[in-house]
Formats: sequence, structure tokens, C-alpha cells
Amino acid sequence: MKIIGLVGSPRKNGNTDVLLQKALEGAKAQGSDTAIYYLNEENIRGCQACGGCKKVGKCVVEDGLTKIFTAINEADGVILGSPIYFGRFTAQTALFMDRLFGYLKPDFSSSLGKDKKYALIFTQNQPDSTTYTNTIEATTQVLERVGFTSGPKPLVGTGLPNAGMVRENKQLLQNAYDIGLELTRR
Ligand SMILES: Cc1cc2nc3c(=O)[nH]c(=O)nc-3n(C[C@H](O)[C@H](O)[C@H](O)COP(=O)(O)O)c2cc1C
Repeated sequence: MKIIGLVGSPRKNGNTDVLLQKALEGAKAQGSDTAIYYLNEENIRGCQACGGCKKVGKCVVEDGLTKIFTAINEADGVILGSPIYFGRFTAQTALFMDRLFGYLKPDFSSSLGKDKKYALIFTQNQPDSTTYTNTIEATTQVLERVGFTSGPKPLVGTGLPNAGMVRENKQLLQNAYDIGLELTRR
């Protein structure tokens, strides 16, 4: 299996990145090939609403997402991680999600391969994991609308105000690892 991780935080080695890497470790332990992409490091434009995807069947904007879409096409599963910013996912994550419009064909059916699973990792300062349920639901709606199949239950890392402090939270690290295991379990 091939599993890719997409980090929607601008902070490399931040909480989202650490949890995503743990999840990929879990996937690797099951024999999967893994790769990680940092959305913040790519030159990415938002959806241009050009309609090109409805003519040629894929996103026609050529930028940092082009290689990520190629990786998604070749992957069996995708793990998307984002910190919560003002109650929602980051702008970097939003740019990526809008561009998934390219996976909807002219008749708005999905061109994403069958059984491509997704998992979600969110991080936040708030201690209550249900505070931003709406954001998690909005994210699952987009991913499932474009054709991803629901995987493990989303992981929410709470009480994480400072970069990388999740390293001290063994339970969250284990939960992230388990997401990778579950995503790749046949
Ligand atoms: C601009 C900004 C807005 C934030 N808004 C929220 C918020 O609304 N609720 C919350 O619980 N945490 C909020 N946070 C805290 C982050 O979600 C939290 O520190 C997270 O662990 C950061 O993840 P990272 O280390 O991967 O960047 C915010 C942080 C920033 C920088």
C-alpha cells in the first residue's frame, strides 16, 4: 500500500507534523510505502474556477499541487492534518481542499479511484475535542464528496498551544500511530 501524509500546518515539527509522522510510522509498520508533503512549502493557488477540470477531467492549474495530485492518484490512502485556526482548518489546508474540485467530472461524479481511504488529524489548544466538530464534519464532507472513502475516526489532539509539545503526550502519539495501522489494515 502507498499512504501519503499532507501537513496543513506552517510549522514543520509542530504538533500536526509530529502526529502525522507517527501515523505514517503506523502505516509503515504494516509494510506501506509512505511520503509526506508540507502544503506550506508548496507554491499553491486556490481554485481558479476556470472550469478546466470539467473539460479535461483533472485540475489544469499547474503548481505545487500538481505533484501532490499525482501522489494522491497513486496512493491507497491519504492522511490530512491541520491545526485549528480560529475554529477552522488552516488557509493552506483550504487551498488544497478547494482544488479537490478537479476530481469531480463534468457530471460531478468522482474521478478519484475507488476505495481511496482518508484519515484526519486535527490539533488545537482547546482541551475539548468536540469544540470544533463542525470543522471536522465540513472536512469529511469535502473529502467524501470528491470520492474518498471514510477511514479511521478523526484524531483531535487537544491542549497543544506550543509547537511540538505533543511529543510529551504518549497517548496522542499512540492514537496517531493507530490511525496509520487502521488505515492500512486489509
Ligand atoms: C492563527 C492561529 C489561530 C488559532 N486558533 C485556534 C482556535 O481557534 N482554537 C484552538 O483551540 N486553537 C487555536 N490555535 C492553536 C493551534 O491550533 C494549536 O497550537 C496547534 O497545536 C498548532 O499546531 P501546529 O503545532 O501543528 O502548528 C490557533 C493558532 C494560531 C497560530
